[in-house]
Amino acid sequence: MEKLWWQEEVVYQIYPKSFQDSNQDGIGDIKGITNRLDYLQNLGVTMLWICPIYRSPMDDNGYDVSDYRSLAPEFGRMEDLDELIQEAGKRKIRIMLDLVINHSSDEHEWFQKALEDPKSKYHDYYIFKDGKERPNNWRSIFGGSVWEKVPGREEYYYHTFGKKQPDLNWENEKLREELYDMVNWWLDKGIAGFRIDAITFIKKDLTWSDREADGVDGLSKCTKSSRTQPGIGVFLHELKENTFDRHRCVTVAEAPGVPYEDLDDFIGKDGYFDMIFDFRYADLDIASGSEWFKRIPWTVKELGEKIMASQMAMQKYGWAANFIENHDQPRATSKYLQEAQDNPDAVKMLGAMYFFLRGTPFIYQGQELGMVNFKRDSIGQFNDLSSIDQYNRSMEEGLSKEEALEIVNLRSRDNGRTPFPWNQERYGGFSQHTPWLMMGEEYPRINAADQVGREGSIYEFYKEMIAFRQEGPCRDTLIYGEIAPLASSENVIAYRRFTDTETIYCWFHFGKEAVKETLPQDHMQTVWSSQKEVYITENQLVLQPYQAILMRGK
Ligand code: GLC
Ligand code: CA
Repeated sequence: MEKLWWQEEVVYQIYPKSFQDSNQDGIGDIKGITNRLDYLQNLGVTMLWICPIYRSPMDDNGYDVSDYRSLAPEFGRMEDLDELIQEAGKRKIRIMLDLVINHSSDEHEWFQKALEDPKSKYHDYYIFKDGKERPNNWRSIFGGSVWEKVPGREEYYYHTFGKKQPDLNWENEKLREELYDMVNWWLDKGIAGFRIDAITFIKKDLTWSDREADGVDGLSKCTKSSRTQPGIGVFLHELKENTFDRHRCVTVAEAPGVPYEDLDDFIGKDGYFDMIFDFRYADLDIASGSEWFKRIPWTVKELGEKIMASQMAMQKYGWAANFIENHDQPRATSKYLQEAQDNPDAVKMLGAMYFFLRGTPFIYQGQELGMVNFKRDSIGQFNDLSSIDQYNRSMEEGLSKEEALEIVNLRSRDNGRTPFPWNQERYGGFSQHTPWLMMGEEYPRINAADQVGREGSIYEFYKEMIAFRQEGPCRDTLIYGEIAPLASSENVIAYRRFTDTETIYCWFHFGKEAVKETLPQDHMQTVWSSQKEVYITENQLVLQPYQAILMRGK
């Protein structure tokens, strides 16, 4: 594969509402990010993905855009963003924004005009259907029917996500052109590219036919008829041709539901995007991204197999975007390590396991501190609309109140959205004002002030790991080398990264008892380890509990 600039990036994802409040209103903002650029530069990241900062009623915290060309006043003014882009540039950090074009907010001018006058051109920018009853039984991702009645009319509009997030009608050419103009306008501003939200939902099954119910609510999940539908490629190709292709930018799509066989279309040489996120291993503990109250047991072996299947598929066609956390996921420590979530060795091993995979690594804010899930004691303490829906739906499906609460604690998207713990003071140095969302309980123990510069801390570990990928002696192999699975014992995930001249063998031990792995070659040399000591006896490597090791062979 030809070398491309974004393959060398290390991306840091910011949830702006929760990163740093600069004007003491309890809400994080753009100036707050600018004020923390030194922290990010010190960590060694090279690109930021900032979750939506556009004007929005914030029903889904910015994923409900009411004006694509202006910023949410609580986040700041356009000058603040220009300043952020400039200050970040001085530190060799690029800025990537979030592009939310499957839907807008119901408060967007287009939707408002569509409601006011069904004859206006904006009416066809959305999906409306006439009738006394909802047009079909599809269930939205955030619960209830995908159809919401228009007040005072016998008419419904379609929403894949929340009620306040009506889907844009991609079948309308004028709408598509407006979106492309807007995308180009942003790219001209000097941003590095986009993370593209929920893009596999833009094409619907236009027969709109009912499906067999899959829940006691009589509904059927909409993904089967509204995600990666035949014909979507026409829109995605057109989008790319009219926008991304005209700029030197990078695109990372949130593209759940893409079969591995179709990856060529998505990330191949002429693919719609540069990279996509694969959720198969992020969601290995749940039935699906929209039904996380249905929990599924899993093993380290299965996790390893899912990761490697994903890597091999991505490698066949293009490049991967690797992550273990984001703003829709619980903390990776709590999800993947469970009772070892507070063990620094385990947290480091987990970080290294995904970080050295083939692809561009994404780090979610707070991951570099080893943040853990919270424990809320009532549903009233949650903000995320999906958590509230899953709580209610799980009880409808027969769970007790306690079980429902336990599940939202384990899986709520709010886990990753608590204010960033900068120090152990009140509100963790995030703000002087009561934050918009309660802090996690662990911030007096897990915070940046404690970790930056402290030898052995998780932050310092991430910093070292980033530097090792970017500038270490094996950088070419770790960045550009191929990947293949490596046989290992049950609680170990292992792979090798290789070029024509070098192979780096990588082991990541999830167990609490030492285990032995047979060394695949003679005269191997340790190039990196998450723990000081590396034990080798004859041709065996003795992995200590939660140890990660990289060794060089031929
Ligand atoms: C994506 C976002 C999520 C949002 C949803 C609707 O999945 O990551 O946070 O709620 O799309 O925009
Ligand atoms: Ca603020």
